[in-house]
Amino acid sequence: MRILVLGGTAWVGREVATAAVAAGHDVTCLARGSSGGYADGVRVVRADRDRDDAYDEVAGTDWDGVVDVARQPGQVRGAVSRLADHAGRWAFVSTGNVYASHAEVGADETAALLAPATADVVGATPEEYGAGKVACEEAVLAGLGERAVIARAGLIGGPGDVSGRSGYWPWRFAHPSDPSGAVLAPASRVAASLIDVRDLARWLVSAVSGACATGIYDAVANGGTLQDHLDAARSVAGHGGPVVRVEDAWLSDRGVAEWSGPRSLPLWLADPDWQGFAGHRGDRILAAGLRPRPLEETLADTLAWEESRPVSGVRGAGLSDDDERALLAAAGEGAA
Ligand SMILES: NC(=O)c1ccc[n+]([C@@H]2O[C@H](COP(=O)([O-])OP(=O)(O)OC[C@H]3O[C@@H](n4cnc5c(N)ncnc54)[C@H](OP(=O)(O)O)[C@@H]3O)[C@@H](O)[C@H]2O)c1
Repeated sequence: MRILVLGGTAWVGREVATAAVAAGHDVTCLARGSSGGYADGVRVVRADRDRDDAYDEVAGTDWDGVVDVARQPGQVRGAVSRLADHAGRWAFVSTGNVYASHAEVGADETAALLAPATADVVGATPEEYGAGKVACEEAVLAGLGERAVIARAGLIGGPGDVSGRSGYWPWRFAHPSDPSGAVLAPASRVAASLIDVRDLARWLVSAVSGACATGIYDAVANGGTLQDHLDAARSVAGHGGPVVRVEDAWLSDRGVAEWSGPRSLPLWLADPDWQGFAGHRGDRILAAGLRPRPLEETLADTLAWEESRPVSGVRGAGLSDDDERALLAAAGEGAA
């Protein structure tokens, strides 16, 4: 099959291209080429999707499948208007941020959405990002109809995750900051599902290849709690030291950030309005052929990837060694 990846120079898009090549497809990636390298074996089309001539080089081809990872509604509207008549199936990589509420655990694809952004370009706050993706979804559904596949990805993890969210826990358990081997962790049992980027990519390729029904999917896997995630991370890291579990309020009082970013404990969500963010069901995508690998395998591979790259200080998300030691001391453990 002839597959066009709109993107392909960053993490998810490159994995999609890699999976499509591995499945034996003829793969073209359209991007500016500024985010990173391309997967081996793809044909490269350099184009800027913010320009009117962006799709000139690919609009004369009939594509069996298109996969788009864009965040900007204007880019998606432009691609759909130029290419929908030349495409079979079209998969759009969306996000769980499209939902209006994240409070409920166990919600599914029928949950209410944010109002769509009207602008062509949106900002990066969670609300703007989510509203932008709603607008992107609408453009794809309007232009492709029954040929559209919308994959609302939850947290994506695996090797190459520069956000540090899927790397922090296995890496931290492999490298405790404190000589006692203690690791600071939330006591929270918040939902913490994670989909491996390689499993997502393989499923997207199968979806545009016609292996499942089209429509809207929550692309989530490995449903479980933060404690399940910590257990898996400890196991792959071979951690035998103490785990100092602290309550939400204790962490919030000390300015530890939720979910991601600097001075955070990744995947931890204390805000009651976000308890269901990583807790969507995923029944539909599992029935449609998603084959998630065990979480332990994802975390082991992510740990190996983290170990392979030279980084000084915090790896995208989490606590620095100094911060963690100070917090452990405050919690009455470790540093003695
Ligand atoms: N990480 C998560 O946990 C998570 C969760 C849910 C959903 N998602 C979704 O997963 C996807 C991530 O995709 P990704 O890893 O491939 O990263 P990305 O940074 O979102 O990818 C952007 C891609 O679009 C291309 N691009 C951007 N502006 C362009 C322009 N003006 N013209 C042409 N190409 C342009 C970039 O290539 P060039 O810069 O080379 O042009 C790059 O290949 C996104 O859709 C994101 O919303 C992620």
